[in-house]
Amino acid sequence: MNEVGFLGLGIMGKAMAMNLQNNGFNVTVWNRSQSKCDELVKHGISIGESPAAVIGKCKYTIAMLSDPEAALSVVFGKAGVLEEICNGKGYIDMSTVDAETSKKISEAIKSKGGCFLEAPVSGSKKPAEDGQLIILAAGEKALYDEMLPAFNVLGKKSYFLGLVGNGAKMKIVVNMIMGSMMNALSEGLELADRSGLDCHELLDVLDLGAIANPMFKLKGPAMIKNSYPPAFPLKHQQKDMRLALALGDQNAISMPVAAAANEAFKKARSMGFGDLDFSAVHESVRRYK
Ligand SMILES: NC(=O)c1ccc[n+]([C@@H]2O[C@H](COP(=O)([O-])OP(=O)(O)OC[C@H]3O[C@@H](n4cnc5c(N)ncnc54)[C@H](OP(=O)(O)O)[C@@H]3O)[C@@H](O)[C@H]2O)c1
Repeated sequence: MNEVGFLGLGIMGKAMAMNLQNNGFNVTVWNRSQSKCDELVKHGISIGESPAAVIGKCKYTIAMLSDPEAALSVVFGKAGVLEEICNGKGYIDMSTVDAETSKKISEAIKSKGGCFLEAPVSGSKKPAEDGQLIILAAGEKALYDEMLPAFNVLGKKSYFLGLVGNGAKMKIVVNMIMGSMMNALSEGLELADRSGLDCHELLDVLDLGAIANPMFKLKGPAMIKNSYPPAFPLKHQQKDMRLALALGDQNAISMPVAAAANEAFKKARSMGFGDLDFSAVHESVRRYK
């Protein structure tokens, strides 16, 4: 499986494609904005002129796209994946989308004779660069087994979760919890600050107790400085909260904490923070004076 296609060179896709190329794979990329492809040529990466061209060239193609709309348009659009996918080829969508989107893509790929795996990831820019992602795969087990050499480069652990949709759902549940936690930290930092406490001391106290976690430790100090360089764009976290609430609707689960966190992420988006890191949800509380 030396030849691998890669569609989507955003924060995650670029790091993942580079990792594969640096670990012995021959990678061919496509990205909607051509300039992101050009940057990778000096590393020996090839460029395909469309998703269809990449699929035509490679037995296996991975996608890492922003949201359900992007994932669908790359598959069903002009010069899209469906034009070239056929028997013997595998398509692996690692974007975070809802289960329905994933099933729609799976059915279309299978109707052309191709194999499909959804494989969203947990972990952000740095784990993507370091090959330390957690891969949540579901779909065709044979394709999962064939992809393991690539997954072992991209991640520290991969799971096979069964039917298409289970990977998407697992990812959405994880990010719902993460978004709620980030919103709670934002409110806590603001409450500490405005009630006269030292926010660094708050982070120290949190880090020593039962709710210590790498996310608070990593993001907290920058949040105190109101600095949010994008590792996980806030607009994608809000998309994941939206998808989680829809999953909650489908299952009649009451999720008031997630719903409130979603409102905070929406507010931060409306304030223009969508392209900053999701920790910029802090601004929705900070400026609410
Ligand atoms: N960043 C993280 O920490 C992280 C962690 C885990 C999972 N994820 C998930 O991974 C996915 C990618 O995240 P990211 O942070 O890499 O996002 P990103 O930096 O915003 O990149 C998004 C990618 O999608 C492409 N795209 C957007 N709309 C498109 C369309 N209509 N047609 C074709 N391509 C389109 C973009 O192309 P252009 O370059 O042309 O805009 C870009 O390549 C998302 O589903 C996200 O939720 C992200």
